[in-house]
Amino acid sequence: MARIPDAFIDELLARSDIVEIVGARVPLKRQGKEYAARCPFHDERSASFTVSQTKQFYHCFGCGAHGTALSFLMQYDRLEFLDAVEELARRVGMEVPRDTAQRNANPETRDLYGAMADAADFFRQQLARSDKARTYVAQRGIAADILERYAIGYAPDGFNALRDALGSSPQRMQLLERDGLFSKNDKGHVYDKFRDRLMFPIHDRRGRVIAFGGRVIDPEDSPKYLNSPETALFHKGRELYGLWQARQANQKLDRLIVVEGYMDVVALAQYGVSQAVATLGTATTPDHAELLFRNAPDVFFCFDGDRAGRAAAWKALESVLPRMKDGRQALFLFLPDGEDPDSLVRKEGVAGFDARLRQATPLSEFFYASLSVDVNLGSLDGKARLAERCKPLLAQIPEGAFGDLMQQRLTTLTGIGVRSGSTPPPPRMQRHAPANPSQKPSLIRSAITHLLHRPGFALALTPPYRFAALRQPGIELLSELVLLVHARPDITTGLLLEHFAEREEAVALQKLAVLELPGEDDVLRQVFIDNIERLDAEALGQRREELQQLQRDGALGDAGKQELRALLQAMLQR
Ligand code: UTP
Ligand code: MN
Repeated sequence: MARIPDAFIDELLARSDIVEIVGARVPLKRQGKEYAARCPFHDERSASFTVSQTKQFYHCFGCGAHGTALSFLMQYDRLEFLDAVEELARRVGMEVPRDTAQRNANPETRDLYGAMADAADFFRQQLARSDKARTYVAQRGIAADILERYAIGYAPDGFNALRDALGSSPQRMQLLERDGLFSKNDKGHVYDKFRDRLMFPIHDRRGRVIAFGGRVIDPEDSPKYLNSPETALFHKGRELYGLWQARQANQKLDRLIVVEGYMDVVALAQYGVSQAVATLGTATTPDHAELLFRNAPDVFFCFDGDRAGRAAAWKALESVLPRMKDGRQALFLFLPDGEDPDSLVRKEGVAGFDARLRQATPLSEFFYASLSVDVNLGSLDGKARLAERCKPLLAQIPEGAFGDLMQQRLTTLTGIGVRSGSTPPPPRMQRHAPANPSQKPSLIRSAITHLLHRPGFALALTPPYRFAALRQPGIELLSELVLLVHARPDITTGLLLEHFAEREEAVALQKLAVLELPGEDDVLRQVFIDNIERLDAEALGQRREELQQLQRDGALGDAGKQELRALLQAMLQR
């Protein structure tokens, strides 16, 4: 795998804020200079997870998870390294060095993506050329900038338009086929899968086209919507139409609105509601739920108000329940008969649609309303029945305030509690206590600790680094840290730790990095410089002794004598 240059990663992390990245996914509480939360990587009731803004790293005193904003994204969002880099880069407006990005791609899938991109381009050109398609687009009221933003195109009528345009070699034919763009008849004859349809490309989280949805133009044709089959690039239960565009349009997504159709996403965007996404002709899967909440804390589900709509909403609720960590909110919006978000926003405008969203039903309400149907809560039997029904569902909610509130609500309704009574939280971990408080930290240990907490302090030092000559444990590490910071001036605590991750020093450094280092920056800097000066002085003393020993042995040459004189002079001046 081609490496992304360290300098790029350093700058990327220097421009990102770990508190913002983590805070968008885990509710953080300020605690002095740091932030605390219940650890998202293990089950706990206390808050052992800390995020440090100054050090730009996180650390869990419970399970030991730790790292930078990048490792957090990899762990929490389950991203590959390169995807995490791209995600961060996108947020701060940096561009990942291109050749790195390209060289990282597996050549085989790269060609599959390439063929998809070519097909998308082809469909767009065809839209521009087809009066019929453009008339349809106009009739549906899709604006030009939206056609552009969603890269909407047109697959021409006939059986060979795409094939003739792009299937220029057996290899190309094979790629297009593996991309799901062809159908095959009984005789093995290959022809265009999408014909005379308005084409909606589906983008992945990196903005690459991975599939299409095609809507008929001729109302006689069926099915109304035809989606790409599952391919190496496309797994429909894991993708959301419009998510890429929503993320492009919003610096930070505080909500996502899940709608049913392509046209709904597009129409909402046209009216300024740029957070709509659609599942692709499937129910909301648990993978969808995870993807939704990883991208936004509040998720609105829009469904038809009819029976089918309510059934679909319940399915979504079931997928969402196990994902309801604190800080997340799911709401349900039921639409009036015969309307969909596309028709509603055109009729009522954004204001009307927003007003509906504000009145959306919270998950808790929809949950108890649905389960209480046909239950007589005035009777003991009814109460017991409701409690019975709730039990397996409530058990799926992750530990936290939301689960507790849902439980309380049931108790209010029935007087029965089903969750096992909450155990008292375990005693708080002893934090920030040095491993051995009676032992006065050595100068070297202190200097290393300061550097770990404030790598930039090393930039105040200029060569020659006298202390580096000391023969004491830890000096090599200190020198290495100083050189590392000089080579990578933007390096953060988190990255320093990462640099040593594979080395035997890693555990010790990790411990020093989570110590509390009280005091203002100026004071800390002074302590650090003082540490170094004293180490420099020790190094001078060590050298003086060496030279004096040589002198006593009568083995000190002219150069040595000169050095000794200069040394004594320098020590006098201190
Ligand atoms: P609808 O039939 O409600 O269509 O399907 P719509 O979105 O309102 O589309 P217009 O306004 O008639 O153009 C909703 C969604 O269900 C999936 C598609 O994702 C569609 O957008 N669907 C529908 C299919 O996958 N196949 C179909 O045959 C129909
Ligand atoms: Mn519609």
